[in-house]
Amino acid sequence: MWFGSVLVLLCCCFFSSVNASNGVLSIPPSLYWDGVDGQWSTFQVQVGTPAQTVRLLPGTSANLGNVLLAIIPQGCSATYNAGIDNCSNQRGYLFASNKSSTWSTSRLQNKGLYALDTYVEAQLGLTGNGYYGFDRVSLGLSGSQLPTLENQLVAGIADNNYWLGSFPLSPYPHNFTNLNSPVQSMLSTLRNTSEIGSTSWGYTAGASYLTGDIFGSLTLGGYDQAQFDASTTLDSIPFGSDFTRDLLVEIRSITYDTLGSSPLLAQSTYAFIDSMVTQMWLPTAICKGFESAFGLQWDSDTELYSLSDSQHQTLLDQKPEFTFTLGSGSNTVDITLPYAAFDLTISPPLVAKKTHYFPLKQAQNDSTITLGRVFLQEAYVIADYDRQQFSVSQAAHPGSGVSQDIKALTPPGASSGNSSDSASSSNNNSSSGIGTGTTAAIAVAAVAIVALIGVVWFFLRRKSKKNSSRSELPGEETYEHRLEERKPGSPGTSAPLVAEVDGEGLIERYEAGGDGKVELDASNRTHYEMPDQGEMAEKDGVETPRAVEMDAENRYEMDAGDSGWKSGDAQRGGGER
Ligand SMILES: *[C@@H]1O[C@H](CO)[C@@H](O)[C@H](O)[C@H]1NC(C)=O
Ligand SMILES: *[C@@H]1O[C@H](CO)[C@@H](O)[C@H](O)[C@H]1NC(C)=O
Ligand SMILES: *[C@@H]1O[C@H](CO)[C@@H](O)[C@H](O)[C@H]1NC(C)=O
Ligand SMILES: *[C@@H]1O[C@H](CO)[C@@H](O)[C@H](O)[C@H]1NC(C)=O
Ligand SMILES: *[C@@H]1O[C@H](CO)[C@@H](O)[C@H](O)[C@H]1NC(C)=O
Ligand SMILES: *[C@@H]1O[C@H](CO)[C@@H](O)[C@H](O)[C@H]1NC(C)=O
Ligand SMILES: *[C@@H]1O[C@H](CO)[C@@H](O)[C@H](O)[C@H]1NC(C)=O
Ligand SMILES: *[C@@H]1O[C@H](CO)[C@@H](O)[C@H](O)[C@H]1NC(C)=O
Repeated sequence: MWFGSVLVLLCCCFFSSVNASNGVLSIPPSLYWDGVDGQWSTFQVQVGTPAQTVRLLPGTSANLGNVLLAIIPQGCSATYNAGIDNCSNQRGYLFASNKSSTWSTSRLQNKGLYALDTYVEAQLGLTGNGYYGFDRVSLGLSGSQLPTLENQLVAGIADNNYWLGSFPLSPYPHNFTNLNSPVQSMLSTLRNTSEIGSTSWGYTAGASYLTGDIFGSLTLGGYDQAQFDASTTLDSIPFGSDFTRDLLVEIRSITYDTLGSSPLLAQSTYAFIDSMVTQMWLPTAICKGFESAFGLQWDSDTELYSLSDSQHQTLLDQKPEFTFTLGSGSNTVDITLPYAAFDLTISPPLVAKKTHYFPLKQAQNDSTITLGRVFLQEAYVIADYDRQQFSVSQAAHPGSGVSQDIKALTPPGASSGNSSDSASSSNNNSSSGIGTGTTAAIAVAAVAIVALIGVVWFFLRRKSKKNSSRSELPGEETYEHRLEERKPGSPGTSAPLVAEVDGEGLIERYEAGGDGKVELDASNRTHYEMPDQGEMAEKDGVETPRAVEMDAENRYEMDAGDSGWKSGDAQRGGGER
């Protein structure tokens, strides 16, 4: 494939100058829809040495989102999910720590087996154990020019409360009882190594029910302006006063569009936005409103609003459209969700047989009111940890035909010409930024390669989707298989092993769910400080250029002078309920 090589070269020149040093990282979606309780857009990372590629859901939770969760082989074993076809692929592929030479548990007790820090999610019954350790993590697929971080905290999980692993978006450090120093989260490591210029992200979950493959969108250190419209944005919402429920938003009303219908929620209530929870957890009285409006019936066996075929058909015919009015101070925004966003199916092993359900659960008290991932299908959230505020917008779902419009967020003060911030994205003379002289050339090249990438991407994607498992089909050269094969020889994986690994026993055997779990330190949760010492990352100097799954239409328009949050600093803190 001659044009393949040309493509790779061109893309190398183009993309390597884009992702470096402008303080913002755009993580490409995996182009898969994963999950057994809905269809969720995942993102790939590579864990360990040699790299094991896993597909993860972004995890926005302040506590649980500070560790990379990866499914371990026990998650597809006789103990868990014995009869599930294609289990490894369905769970976004497995991470076997005993196959990674850079895996280390030496700083941890009990071979790294701890209870997950599900401070918020446990109230929804979503607990679990994890095999914690430290390992190398590379964002994106090999060749995506995204950073590689050493010694990142990874927890291997097996049980089904978290069917897919998660990509950590929390900036808060993780505490182990036996470690004096908290462990820096991945987002903070990226920030502290200047890979991103601010502690922030923008995320929407994607919308599998829309045509045109509307995958999720994830930006670190900024956001993608193409994913939302400023006119349907609720800006500068202060974080909740309890940092474990930082993305706390006031729902002023929930209505649906049937003529003369009474509101499902008329009284203001606060909900926590959490991508690590699938469903919406709303007060019981509101659930009753949904029940009577749509004939939903709570099934106490499955603990779901499962739908019979006829109920499902009725809803399809009725096609209600739901409007969530969110408010902050005197501002409000309407986030509208079509019924299609709630038209989910759940499959074994979570239930006995595949069934339609309505993604609503009853919250028993205020601290369990949650807007889960279903909501994020139609909402774009920007979390700005530097300013302790976030925004929620109606997701625009631009689709792959529309260019990205990536904006960097800068921390407060960085845009005022004060360069004390290490990663200000307003540095005009950044060595690897796109100079004006080359912009035109790049633009021409970009236009030329867009079509080529489109063609290649189309074929690669079809190929990769056809195959169920990279390792079970050794003879067939799948897309991911090829990546795996090529990694060991590539410069990107040849960095020295960390010292801690030497002479350290790797986990030989897993006993997930066994005894002897060590409780995490749950104390002192209300105050958060950045650790002054953490896991420093070493970025690989050399990376193998390879044009993989880069979105052809991605045109990065760095706004050098962007002062960050659209409406300025505004209020912060004081997000009391
Ligand atoms: C890794 O552990 C699994 C059991 O969890 C075992 O079956 C496998 O052989 C081990 N692999 C290596 C390379 O040690
Ligand atoms: C709220 O309810 C959950 C689950 O029912 C429970 O675990 C939690 O302790 C409750 N919280 C408060 C503050 O009552
Ligand atoms: C930059 O900010 C620091 C404190 O954040 C201050 O000490 C310094 O004087 C400022 N420099 C300029 C040039 O404004
Ligand atoms: C960067 O460029 C902008 C205009 O493009 C200018 O206003 C600003 O002063 C420049 N900053 C530095 C540090 O050169
Ligand atoms: C940027 O580069 C130009 C020319 O290369 C130089 O004159 C200017 O002083 C530089 N500005 C900064 C802030 O380094
Ligand atoms: C296996 O699961 C993946 C991900 O859910 C899917 O794309 C693939 O088509 C499945 N393969 C088979 C053979 O079911
Ligand atoms: C970790 O411990 C420090 C003090 O050692 C505390 O300030 C911080 O809030 C704790 N973090 C979490 C997530 O509990
Ligand atoms: C960030 O990195 C600097 C060195 O580059 C180090 O001095 C500092 O302690 C680090 N901060 C955190 C929060 O780890």
